[in-house]
Amino acid sequence: MKHNVVLIGFMGTGKSSTGRALASRLGCAFVDLDQKIEQECGMRIPEIFETHGEDFFRAKEAEAVKEAAGRRGIVISTGGGTVKNPQNMEILRRHGIVISLVARSEVILSRTRRKGKRPVLDRMDQGDRKQAIENLMEERRALYEKADYVVDTSDWSPFQVVEDICRYLKMRGAMHA
Ligand code: S3P
Repeated sequence: MKHNVVLIGFMGTGKSSTGRALASRLGCAFVDLDQKIEQECGMRIPEIFETHGEDFFRAKEAEAVKEAAGRRGIVISTGGGTVKNPQNMEILRRHGIVISLVARSEVILSRTRRKGKRPVLDRMDQGDRKQAIENLMEERRALYEKADYVVDTSDWSPFQVVEDICRYLKMRGAMHA
């Protein structure tokens, strides 16, 4: 593959599981930006937010974007907030096909129900997590819509999502097998 495939989307839309499965289907390398940051910092994301703050995390995220986007023919899963930095998206788009994963808010709610894993959502949750999800989704909607292709993962297994993305990549001539 000449391009990278970049998965963007809100928390709980399945970027990491889809990315891993897609890379395995394409037989290429996979980079999960959140995982890279965690490895580099030697801590989980909530701990990074707590110890160093969000700005520090976003700076690490921008570094991870640059490093991953410098490679070719790989699948990259972003974090839910990677799209907020226009420079991140400009770099990722340069050699990447951007696929946006979306899901209904109640699906996101059930996939992200466990607290303590997503600091951005936890701090907005004033007892109504679904409302917090909807507010943040609305705030970021336009950023997630700026993609080459959009897939709704609400009712699909990772396998179905991967097949749909592959159909799109073939149609674009970005994938042959
Ligand atoms: C974030 C989403 C998380 C992670 C961090 C911030 C966000 O990634 O990068 O907690 O701002 O939406 P996932 O989308 O993989 O949960």
